[in-house]
Amino acid sequence: MSRIGGVPVRELVSACGTPLVVYDVDVMKAKLQEYRDHFVSDRFKTGVVYASKAFSCKAMIRIVDSFGFLVDVVSLGEMVTALLAGIDPSRIIFHGNNKSEEEIEYALEKKIGTIVCDNLMEAMMLEEKARYIDHPVHVLLRVNPGIEAHTHKYIVTGHIDSKFGISLLDESRLVHAIMVLRENPNICFDGLHAHIGSQIFEKQAFVEEIRTLFSYMNKMKERYGITCNTLDLGGGFAARYTNEDAPIPLAEVCEAILTTAQEEEDKYQTGIERIWIEPGRSLCAEAGYNLYSIGFTKKTPNKTYLFVNGGMSDNIRPALYQAKYDAYIEGRENDAPEGTFTIAGKCCESGDILIESIDLPKAHYGDILVMKTTGAYGYAMASHYNKLPLPAVVFAESGKFRTVIRRESIEHMISLEEDEL
Ligand code: LLP
Repeated sequence: MSRIGGVPVRELVSACGTPLVVYDVDVMKAKLQEYRDHFVSDRFKTGVVYASKAFSCKAMIRIVDSFGFLVDVVSLGEMVTALLAGIDPSRIIFHGNNKSEEEIEYALEKKIGTIVCDNLMEAMMLEEKARYIDHPVHVLLRVNPGIEAHTHKYIVTGHIDSKFGISLLDESRLVHAIMVLRENPNICFDGLHAHIGSQIFEKQAFVEEIRTLFSYMNKMKERYGITCNTLDLGGGFAARYTNEDAPIPLAEVCEAILTTAQEEEDKYQTGIERIWIEPGRSLCAEAGYNLYSIGFTKKTPNKTYLFVNGGMSDNIRPALYQAKYDAYIEGRENDAPEGTFTIAGKCCESGDILIESIDLPKAHYGDILVMKTTGAYGYAMASHYNKLPLPAVVFAESGKFRTVIRRESIEHMISLEEDEL
C-alpha cells in the first residue's frame, strides 16, 4: 500500500475519484528548500523565480511565495492567479512574446514588479503606455544568446530565428529596443533575460549562457554606455522522470552558475548586482502523481494494452514530446513483473499512449495505476479533448490532504455554449 504525502493512495482515490492529480507537498517543499539553500551568494542578490506555467494555481503560488520566491507569469490568466493568491505584485515577473495591450496595461496598473520585454514592438508599446503611470516599472529585455540546450545536448547555434527574444547577433535592433525603453523615466531598464531550454542535464550549457551574456553586456557597456544590474538566466533544470534520468544535483548547478557569474563579473565589472533563475519543472514535476483507474486490457499480436480512464487530455507530454514516465500498480509495488505493457488512455487518437513499454505485475480491472513525476506541464497543458473534464488536483502533506482544484463537471465544460434559439 503506497502513500503520497503520507496519505494512502487508496484513501485519496476513494475520497476524490480518478483520474486525479496529487502533489506531495512535503517533496515540493524539500525542493524549494534546496533551491533556497543553494542559490545564495555573497556577491550577488539572488532570486529564485517560479515559472508558474509548469503548474499554476493559487495554492501552488502561495507555497512558492511562502518560501520567498518570485513568480514568473506569461499571460493575464497566470498573472491574475498569482495576484489572487495574494502575492505582492512587485514579486511578479511578466514574460511573453506577444503580450496584448490589455495585458501590458493591466500589468502596469497592478504595479507588476518586472516586465520582460521580448521585442522592439513591445518596447515601443511599453514605453508609450508607461508614460501614464506614476510609479517606476522594472524592465528586462529577453535576448536569444544562440545557445540551445535540451536534455544531454547543448548546441551553440547562432540560431537567429527563435520566436523568443532578440538575437544577440541583431545588435542594432537590440540596442534600439534598449534605447527606446531608456527614453522613458518611468522605466528602469535593469538588464537581460535568456532561457536556453528545458530538461537540461548539462551544467556546461548554463556556464556557456552566462559567459555569452557577460561578454555581451561588456560590449554594450563599452560601445553604447548601456549598463545592466540584473541578469535573469531562465529555467530548464532537469527533473528525474525515470531511472535513466540523473539530473545534476541542484547544489552543483547553483554553484556552477554563481561561480561563473562571479568570475565573469570580476573580469568585466559590468555592474551586475542581481542574478535570477526561473525553475518550473524541477520544482514541481517530481512531487506530482497522476492516479488512474485501469479499465479494459487488450492483447494484440505485439502488445498488451492497459487502458486507463484519462490520457493525453490530462498529460499530453508523452504524445507531444515522446516523454517517458514510470508507474506502478497500487498495492503491487513490490510484486514481480508479469509482463510488459503499454499504457494507453481513453482518447480517440492512436497517439494517446501514456507509457509505451513498462514491466508491471498482473493488473485487474479497477486497479489504480500511479504515474509518477507528472507535476510539471501535465495539468497545465490539459485539454478538453473528447470532452473529458479536467481532473481534480489534491495537495497531500504530512498525512493530510485537501483539494486545491475541484474536478470539472461536464455541465461546467458545456456551460460556455450558447443555446440555439
Ligand atoms: N523561464 C522561461 C522564460 C521559460 O520559457 C520557461 C519554460 C521556464 C522559465 C521554465 O522552464 P523549466 O524550468 O520548467 O524547464 N511544455 C514543455 C516545457 C515548455 C517550457 C517552456 N518554457 C514540457 O512539457 O516539457
